[in-house]
Amino acid sequence: MIRLKNAAEIDRIRESCRMLSGLFAELAPLVKPGVSTLELDTAAREYILSRGGRPAFLGYDGYPASLCVSPNEVIIHGIPDGRRLVEGDIVGLDCGIDLGGFFSDAAITLPVGTISPEAEKLLRVTRECLDRAIAAVKPGARIHDVSRAVFGHATANGYGVVRQYCGHGVGFSPHEDPQIPNYVSPGPNPRIVPGMVFAIEPMVNLGSGGIKTLDDEWTVVTLDKKISAHYEHTVAVLPDGTVEVLTSWTYPS
Ligand code: MF3
Ligand code: CO
Repeated sequence: MIRLKNAAEIDRIRESCRMLSGLFAELAPLVKPGVSTLELDTAAREYILSRGGRPAFLGYDGYPASLCVSPNEVIIHGIPDGRRLVEGDIVGLDCGIDLGGFFSDAAITLPVGTISPEAEKLLRVTRECLDRAIAAVKPGARIHDVSRAVFGHATANGYGVVRQYCGHGVGFSPHEDPQIPNYVSPGPNPRIVPGMVFAIEPMVNLGSGGIKTLDDEWTVVTLDKKISAHYEHTVAVLPDGTVEVLTSWTYPS
């Protein structure tokens, strides 16, 4: 069931999303060679708690941290630990905030120092996948139009698209209907209407789309160990039909 949001509810979700955008602005400069993934998680938790939010991922299905930190071949759900990032890594940061019962969700993949031209291009194209997906959001279009935008651009560049994880409705809880696959699936294809709020999140691999989950039951990695990128924004279709990216930032270049 898709739960539509009215203007007042979208206002509350927007507040949660603003806090989350501010968090990413705070985390981005910390992403440098030598920082540990756990230090990033601690910074995220303290930022959220000090502003009256609750880290939405902490304890969700038993997830043990506030931030997902996913370096290189880790696609999503990397668990922060003592690992230190090194020059040339890329790292996905994914976070959600519960602000008084209103949920936001966003992710970014950042370079650690100078990265290879191959990695630069993967990040750029995955960002473009998200931008094209957002451009496909409009009242009257369908969810599969969003999926097709991601899949078409990623595959045109020779990349693999992850099929096992999807974008999703968000706002009253971390994950709601509809699912938003990053490929055109045989599943439900609802029409986009005002009041929908969802998280769009392309996961794009340099190599094949194949994945595997590690023994910790969270960390999702590429089967071929090649790098993977992930970007996510929470997007609302306002009551008047305007589309607003509720989590937004300028990407560090
Ligand atoms: N951002 C992820 C998503 O979009 C959520 C991470 S799952 C959690 O679905 F358990 F880590 F919270
Ligand atoms: Co999400």
